[in-house]
Amino acid sequence: MVVNPFKPTAGKMPPILIGRQSIIDDFSEALTNGVGAPGRIMLVTGQRGFGKTVMLTEFRRIAKAQHWEVIGETASTGLVTRLIAALSPSGIHLDQANISPSIGVSGIATASLGQMHFAAESNPLTLRNALNKRLASKKISKGKGILITIDETQAASHDDLVAIATAVQHIITDADESDTPDADKKGVAIVFAGLPYMVNDLLDNEVTTFLRRALRRELDNVPLPDVKNAFLETVAASGKTISEEDALEAARKSEGYPYMVQLIGYYMWQSAQRQGSRVITADDVAVGFSDALLAFDDAVCAPALDGITGAEKLFLMAMAQDAPNPTQVGDIVGRTRRSRSWVSKYRAILIKDKLIRSSGHGQLEFTVPHLGQYLQSL
Ligand SMILES: Nc1ncnc2c1ncn2[C@@H]1O[C@H](COP(=O)(O)OP(=O)(O)OP(=O)(O)O)[C@@H](O)[C@H]1O
Ligand SMILES: [Mg+2]
Repeated sequence: MVVNPFKPTAGKMPPILIGRQSIIDDFSEALTNGVGAPGRIMLVTGQRGFGKTVMLTEFRRIAKAQHWEVIGETASTGLVTRLIAALSPSGIHLDQANISPSIGVSGIATASLGQMHFAAESNPLTLRNALNKRLASKKISKGKGILITIDETQAASHDDLVAIATAVQHIITDADESDTPDADKKGVAIVFAGLPYMVNDLLDNEVTTFLRRALRRELDNVPLPDVKNAFLETVAASGKTISEEDALEAARKSEGYPYMVQLIGYYMWQSAQRQGSRVITADDVAVGFSDALLAFDDAVCAPALDGITGAEKLFLMAMAQDAPNPTQVGDIVGRTRRSRSWVSKYRAILIKDKLIRSSGHGQLEFTVPHLGQYLQSL
């Protein structure tokens, strides 16, 4: 059976990981360059659908291939507790010391089941202990270590981030207190991925110093020539063909937006397949693009607008007139015929809801690509 090779699904590894070689090199070199290499603490940001989750998967794959232990987590309530549990599968031995003395043997049993009594979130030492203990294990060889990836970091609680930052920092200093040469030291690498706005949020609290030292990489649009080549290769490998010109047109339509690359690829391939054709034509590219836009609206734009109020919608519609360009805040007053204070109120609400963001000079823009155009089409 012939299978559509494109993968327009959140977090799914694409057939070809386009345009990410330099960030992959940053990461791999950090593993090789030993404790203290900058890329061992990384902060990867990117808009929705730009490939953060896929990047973290690739990092874990690379680390595993180099015989590192890997832990992949997504930020949500209980993050640190889950990290500790992942580091110490037989958690009960590790954490006995942290269980309050008033909890008897039955209490320990409870703790081992629920992990709730460890107060892990508020106790960075616990994570530090878990990490050190794991590093000491014979399963991790000299010069290797543990890679932790945290996805959706923007959703992490402040306490969890402080706990992680403190623990990782201690691990680095703990290693310095030993006589092991740097090349033989076991280390921790940690990669945080999240939406771009989180950088601003993070920069004004205690996690700052830690994350400011992190190697920061923004996942941007991927280069069109690379997209074109990926289309050519992927299509060829699936037993179909596409001309250079049509592949370039498909690449242009994607604007180098990774999720859109997969959507267009998927639907143009499907269009040819449904006609029993081995050739993807210019028409298939056109059909592919319009189907891709519909799918994008359903998958990204519609959910983004779920549950917004009438007033919020009025505000967004006023902004949509300028899409894909940013909107001058002042223009919204005239377009909505509301007061300045109404505009500032909803501006603040929508920024807090991450639907829009300030793009400087009194301008606002949508955080979700295409959302403005989608609103125009309603
Ligand atoms: N470098 C790339 N080249 C080609 N396709 C890619 C690339 N990166 C990601 N994709 C594709 O884009 C889509 C989105 O990827 P992914 O889910 O990793 O994005 P994300 O940034 O984590 O999005 P979200 O913020 O919604 O979680 C997937 O279909 C994936 O296969
Ligand atoms: Mg993701």
